[in-house]
Amino acid sequence: MINLSGKIALVTGSTRGIGKATAQRLAEAGASVVVTGRSEDRAGEVAKEIAQSTGAKTFAVGLDIGSRESIEGAIKRINEEMGNVDILVNNAGVNRDTLFVRMKYEDWDEIIRVNLTGTFLVTQLVVKGMLKKRWGRIINMSSVVAFIGNVGQANYSSAKAGLVGFTKTLAKELAPRNITVNAIAPGFIETDMTENLPEEIKQGFLSQIPMNRFGKAEDVANVVLFLASELSGYITGEVIHVNGGLF
Ligand code: NAI
Repeated sequence: MINLSGKIALVTGSTRGIGKATAQRLAEAGASVVVTGRSEDRAGEVAKEIAQSTGAKTFAVGLDIGSRESIEGAIKRINEEMGNVDILVNNAGVNRDTLFVRMKYEDWDEIIRVNLTGTFLVTQLVVKGMLKKRWGRIINMSSVVAFIGNVGQANYSSAKAGLVGFTKTLAKELAPRNITVNAIAPGFIETDMTENLPEEIKQGFLSQIPMNRFGKAEDVANVVLFLASELSGYITGEVIHVNGGLF
């Protein structure tokens, strides 16, 4: 039912986890997908894998959202080689957890710079093409911790809460141009980001999830697909929670 053929989708941080599953879903729906990661070689491998399994056109580019120079260079190449992006999924994100009293300035600064400022920079460059086309979908990856907080994540939860305000403001500014801006707040999803957490922390989370299981990257990717499609055309400024009932 969802047909994204003719659309160009850019997914940041799509070499693994939620980003990779999202790139796969969008390609399955017929979009041409730009796979990005800090390593262009790794992005190339994933782009090839997705192209082979879906038949979609893919393009790989190195894009470090912690670096303004890298972002500017990558978006220029994407525009030249693929054209203007229709669907932007601001997925790339990192955490550097430590208790607030021990949190160094660098721990705070890096997480805000990568997760929040990086998203601002990518979006500002990509939105220009959407404004010309008078069509666009922007989907920002927030987190449940933006809403409930989490011990050790003052930096990360602040960045993810910042993305909610960013989403809601952009939604208002861009709605007249037929560009929707929404966020997804995943709960506990099984990826590299959560894999190495101590078992007792994982069990603590699990006991709070009414569906009694952790989420899968595809659970989030399916919602991105919906938000990227025409089906969600009258939804903007929303946060969709994907957490099995945790919040
Ligand atoms: P992951 O660690 O498996 O993947 C993160 C992706 O971002 C990777 O492709 C990585 O290469 C990329 N990335 C990291 N730093 C980057 C940088 N400076 N420039 C470009 N790419 C960079 O994590 P996961 O779980 O797939 O996370 C995806 C998004 O979902 C992140 O924004 C994360 O904060 C968010 N999220 C994840 C949850 C989870 O339980 N796994 C829960 C809530 C939100």
